[in-house]
Formats: sequence, C-alpha cells, structure tokens
Amino acid sequence: MIVLVLALACATEADTGCDDAAPVTWNNFGHGFMTTYCVGCHSVENTDRRYGAPTGVDFDTEDDAIEWAARTRVRVLEDGDMPVGGGVYAADLELLDTWLRCELGE
Ligand code: HEC
Repeated sequence: MIVLVLALACATEADTGCDDAAPVTWNNFGHGFMTTYCVGCHSVENTDRRYGAPTGVDFDTEDDAIEWAARTRVRVLEDGDMPVGGGVYAADLELLDTWLRCELGE
C-alpha cells in the first residue's frame, strides 16, 4: 500500500512538471512579480490611490500571495483581466503559473 501511494505521488509530480522545473519562489520571483504588476494598486500602504482595488486585497507579502493564490490564477492566467490594462510579459506568465502550481498548490 505504501509503495502504491509513493508511486501515485511520483506520477502526480511528473504530470505537473514541478519536479523538473527550477523552483520558483516568493524570493526569486513572486515578490518581484507582485511589486512590478500588482502592488501599484494592491498595497496595504496605499489607501488613496488604489484605482478601485478592493480594501484588503493586497500583494505586499508572501502571506498575501498565498491567501490570494487561487484568485490570482483566475484573474491573471485564466481571465487575463489583472493587472488592469494587461502588459504582463509572456515569460512572467509562465513563471507565475509554475509558482502558483508548484509552490502554492494552486
Ligand atoms: C491599475 C490598478 C490595478 C492593478 C495594477 C492590479 N489590480 Fe487587481 N484589482 C483592481 C481593481 C479596480 C479591482 C476591483 C474590480 C475587479 O475585481 O475587477 C481589483 C480586484 C482584484 C482582485 C479581487 C477580486 C477577485 O477576483 O477576487 C484580485 C484577486 C486582484 N485584483 C488581483 C490582482 C493581481 C494578482 C494583480 C497583479 C498581477 C493586480 N490585481 C493588479 C485594480 C488593479
């Protein structure tokens, strides 16, 4: 039974490609990504120039990113309507996908 579970775990990892990929983390990617593309509107520091970004939806910290990981996938990768106005480099979209999937489980 343990062998079976391990085999399944390996198969799952192989399917996602997370095993082969270089780790994409908050420190080597997420922080910079959020600072570049999201924090201009979504920051706890920012109370008067949020351009309509809802209070409480912030991307200042890794905990924020974890909390909003599922919605980040939907809005950036699926619907493509965040950041407002678009403009995310294709390479960054790929890294975002890897980070959300492999590190944050979304
Ligand atoms: C120019 C300002 C601006 C930028 C930059 C921006 N947003 Fe937003 N965001 C908004 C506004 C306005 C709303 C509220 C309206 C809406 O939901 O479309 C919002 C709402 C959201 C929400 C909450 C609604 C939901 O779907 O759960 C999430 C999550 C979100 N944005 C993610 C992001 C991410 C991730 C980035 C960076 C990749 C980003 N946003 C960049 C303005 C911005």
